Amino acid sequence: MKNRLLSFGYLLVISGLSISCNRQLMQQVQVSSPDNSVKVIFSLEEGKPHYMMTKNGNKVIEPSAMGFEIMNHTDSLTRYKILSYEEDSKKETWEQPWGEFKYIEDWHNELIIHLKEKGGKKMLMDIHFRVFNDGAGFRYTFPEQSDLDSAIIEDELTQFTFPAEHQVWWIPVHAENSYYESLYRKSSISQTDTINTPATFETSDGLFLAIHEANLTDFASMTLKKRSPKQYVSQLIPWSNGVKVYAKAPFKSPWRTIIIGEKPGDLVTSTMMLNLNDPCILEDVSWIEPSKYIGIWWGMHLNKYTWGQGPKHGATTKNVMKYIDFASKNGFDGVLAEGWNFGWDGKWWIDGTKFSFTKSYPDFNMEEITSYAAVKNIRLIGHHETGGAVSNYENQLEEGFAQYHHYGVNAVKTGYVNKYLAGKEWHDSQFGVRHYRKVLETAAKYHIMIDNHEPVKGTGLQRTYPNLMTQEGGRGQEYNAWSPDGGNPPSHTTILPFTRMLAGPFDFTPGIFNFNYSAVKGTRVNTTLAKQLALYVILFSPQQMAADLPENYAGHPAFEFIRKVPCTWSDTKVLNAEIGKFVTMARKDRNSDEWYVGSITNEEARTIELDLSFLDQNKDYRAETYTDGEGADYRSDPEKVKIVSFEVNSDSKLKLDLAAGGGAAIRLIPLQELTRDGSL
Ligand code: NOJ
Repeated sequence: MKNRLLSFGYLLVISGLSISCNRQLMQQVQVSSPDNSVKVIFSLEEGKPHYMMTKNGNKVIEPSAMGFEIMNHTDSLTRYKILSYEEDSKKETWEQPWGEFKYIEDWHNELIIHLKEKGGKKMLMDIHFRVFNDGAGFRYTFPEQSDLDSAIIEDELTQFTFPAEHQVWWIPVHAENSYYESLYRKSSISQTDTINTPATFETSDGLFLAIHEANLTDFASMTLKKRSPKQYVSQLIPWSNGVKVYAKAPFKSPWRTIIIGEKPGDLVTSTMMLNLNDPCILEDVSWIEPSKYIGIWWGMHLNKYTWGQGPKHGATTKNVMKYIDFASKNGFDGVLAEGWNFGWDGKWWIDGTKFSFTKSYPDFNMEEITSYAAVKNIRLIGHHETGGAVSNYENQLEEGFAQYHHYGVNAVKTGYVNKYLAGKEWHDSQFGVRHYRKVLETAAKYHIMIDNHEPVKGTGLQRTYPNLMTQEGGRGQEYNAWSPDGGNPPSHTTILPFTRMLAGPFDFTPGIFNFNYSAVKGTRVNTTLAKQLALYVILFSPQQMAADLPENYAGHPAFEFIRKVPCTWSDTKVLNAEIGKFVTMARKDRNSDEWYVGSITNEEARTIELDLSFLDQNKDYRAETYTDGEGADYRSDPEKVKIVSFEVNSDSKLKLDLAAGGGAAIRLIPLQELTRDGSL
């Protein structure tokens, strides 16, 4: 890293970084991406930090204010001077234990500006920028300093100012529920108020921008408050007493990230969020294994079973064993059992303090179940629903994980169904962030992987803690069982890849084959069966569920796709997409040379041209295709699926006819390694 002291009246341009100063009012430092297409310009305007961003010379972010209001330290009137700055660059490739890619390239230029408050308490604040070819991230760090022993952050001042009023895909903050389970809407900025990140913008000159954050550690999560039709300002989620963040120098904020895509798929394949997290800190990751699972779950959401005790209790020894048999016969790795423990009777989502995380209901024999599972090469997947009663959970955390570890359970689904944690704190506040981290770290100690429902949004922590396998934090399949609004509309899953999925894996739980149920009149899965299959490729989760009841899979020819589809990949490509309308992705299996394609549409039927040029040119493949059958339609005939196999190669172009609410799923299996003239 090169360290530079600032001298006034000086203009410097070195390897993509330049600095210029106007003696009086403005000081500027700029840093570009390795390919020079993205530029970030930092400036002090009358002593106040600002940044702006360009892509190919065009403004993406107009000059926008930066900084914080810290109680008894700073406010929006605070003025700074630049002490010095540092520049650096990095190009390296690292390997993920699981993911959408096996290898990730981290290629960026970095600029660190060291600032000092001119008056007041002469506070020190550094701003780090990292500029990638597809966008930039920046974070604030506060070095150790005598006066900042207990800082109370009252507000963040970071603005995101656009050159024009864009269209945005967004969900509201806390208005519908506290854990992101809303349908995305698209509107102009002025029709929004405070929105969650990732928020995805489409500009009038055809760019796609996603604003989010990376590495949310001991901080409040960031939401975006609309200030004007062209501007949002960071709004941190407060504690119940109004404080945003308690900190003690040295400390740092999460990264604020802006991805710039020329097409929607560029947002999906961006790895900026992961690159802005710290490398894995677990010494041994051999116990971390992506897996596919079934479970005693959908049955509860359909009212076939209950979580609590009674004649319809789902998690009984006998029933779990039946699921284990089915899982073992069909190549699954795990069986989830919800409702195994004391505490489900009564209103657990209002008062979760009755939950025991060690005491099983009398008809659930943990010892017998886990021994049986081991013989069948299956793992029980544990479940810790807390009802948001965090102290009750934290008091039992060690024992709960230790018990599961003792029984060979290596994955636990956690849950926080309640408007608040601990009766008064938001899930996405610093309180929540601290709690979820404690759970993750304790789980790692016991070699347990986490599937976190009702979480704080994902910010790429799975790089540092690869036992954070998957999360909810979105409107999943369960809404198709009981939501009074009729379930997720067909467009929902064509928006998720460009919004919710930018925050990381989603335990959406695809795979419903039976559309004839009526837990709530008029509510059901609004897709075709083929689209349910395609979701295994579209919605990444390294713990992936086959959500339907085993009896709905037994003997169904389309089940073969679910049996075979992987849940960890070595490569991912978005072949075509229009947000909210359709998307087609190809992913390569992490453990073989097979490719898988998923293509989905909204409520409109359409034909997708599929170009297979991503396939290896030296191979021929057998394509096993699962497409909407003749006359299929998500409203009237969702179950019709056509299964056909034929040979293809990288020159092949296929036409996929997607029904209304439909989709297509394809498995591409390499045949012998051939040269193109057919010789071996
Ligand atoms: C909500 C979760 O999303 C769901 O998967 C779970 O079954 C229930 N809570 C009960 O824990």
